[in-house]
Amino acid sequence: MKNRDIRLQEILSGRLMSETDFKIFALESFAKDIDHLKQKELLTKLILEHSSVARRLEDMNTELVRSRELLDEAHKIAKIGRWDIDVAAGKVIWSDSMYDILEIDKTTEASTELFFSLVHPNDLDKVKSMYKDMFIEQKPWTTRYRLLLRSGELKWVNLEFHGVFDDQGNAIQLYGTIQDITKMKSIEDELERYNQHLEELVEEKIQEISSSQMSTIYALVKLSESRDDDTGDHIERTASFCKLLAQKAKSIPEYTDLVTDSFIETIYKASPLHDIGKVGIPDNILLKPGKLTDEEFTIMKTHVQIGYDTLSKIGHQYDKNEFLRMGMEISLYHHEKWNGSGYTKGLKGTEIPLSARIMAISDVYDALRSKRVYKEAFSHEKSMDIITSSSGSHFDPYLIDVFIKTQEEFRSLYDSFFD
Ligand code: C2E
Ligand code: SIN
Ligand code: SIN
Ligand code: FE
Repeated sequence: MKNRDIRLQEILSGRLMSETDFKIFALESFAKDIDHLKQKELLTKLILEHSSVARRLEDMNTELVRSRELLDEAHKIAKIGRWDIDVAAGKVIWSDSMYDILEIDKTTEASTELFFSLVHPNDLDKVKSMYKDMFIEQKPWTTRYRLLLRSGELKWVNLEFHGVFDDQGNAIQLYGTIQDITKMKSIEDELERYNQHLEELVEEKIQEISSSQMSTIYALVKLSESRDDDTGDHIERTASFCKLLAQKAKSIPEYTDLVTDSFIETIYKASPLHDIGKVGIPDNILLKPGKLTDEEFTIMKTHVQIGYDTLSKIGHQYDKNEFLRMGMEISLYHHEKWNGSGYTKGLKGTEIPLSARIMAISDVYDALRSKRVYKEAFSHEKSMDIITSSSGSHFDPYLIDVFIKTQEEFRSLYDSFFD
């Protein structure tokens, strides 16, 4: 107990050595006055507090060292180099990791010139002008560019640049980091390529209708055609005529740009949809052996809208599907006439989509050459007479010109279906 009292005195007096005499006196009196129990409590508290502070300090110090190590390590892992320019002293300092990135021996003296000498020639102007702007704008900047190292290796780096300026705007210190992003860049590029590829794939999927859906559509078309088509090949023939006429239309200067390979492919596939609306026409009209009354023909004419509506029900799931888009267009407009007297919209001339103008000629040529419940089959010559006399009234005169010029190909194509 006695020892402890003395030690407390020593500690307290030791701790208060630098205090004023008055304070020492007061405290010594106080210490003498407090009882032993209190002294013990105070001592324990002081010792514990000291040791806890010391431990905390030690911990913090360890943490600091560790965090510096971690930072270095992080820089090494992240391949970040640090550089510092003391402007007044004209001294450039590079961190070890900076040397590593530049692949320069660490004993080499750091300099701005050396640094610029390693910038890829194609990026040098950009880096230099940004460096210059730094002094004018006094704003930090960051940029990506390439290094061309002495080994000939190319590296992508990200440079961060900061400056400290005095009141007059003079640079005192310039500092920044440089990060090797070659790997990151190549991963990024790869990701970008991958994304691009994915986008294309998605686009393709959107454009593409599953083959089962395609066969359902064709089955529906076949079914509708079989009702009023004696030979059952009308859609195959009109598809072939559309393709042939589209190919020929390429030679018309005004249409060259419109008639792409994809247009030809699409019209070939979509043209069979043109009369799909006939599913909605009653047998007593569709299969009437004689001429339709005005009333019947009015109902007959609704097949274009019915076809369009039917396809748009499928179409809204395939917004970007060119096949369906053209199918809808052809369904709706294949009975429009060049002079505006057709149905259902009364469109005129080039207001009528080219696909529908091509369809109209192909459809009528086939209808004329074929036997229908309401008509006999006509010869090629008679069919040509009927069609050419409607050039510019019913049909697109430019298309009719090439149709006349290449009519022998249409004749043999029609005949080829009966070989
Ligand atoms: P569709 O039989 O496939 O005929 C398509 C188009 O070919 C007709 O469209 C018409 O422009 C043309 N066409 C067909 N036969 C002749 C013909 O003998 N002379 C001339 N100048 N053109 C002909 P349209 O007239 O709008 O008819 C659309 C559909 O209505 C026809 O398709 C057919 O299914 C039906 N249709 C038209 N007229 C009659 C008819 O008199 N009787 C019956 N039962 N159906 C008819
Ligand atoms: C057809 O008319 O069914 C032939 C058209 C095609 O398969 O693309
Ligand atoms: C119609 O005028 O809509 C049909 C007559 C025809 O073009 O043959
Ligand atoms: Fe039709």
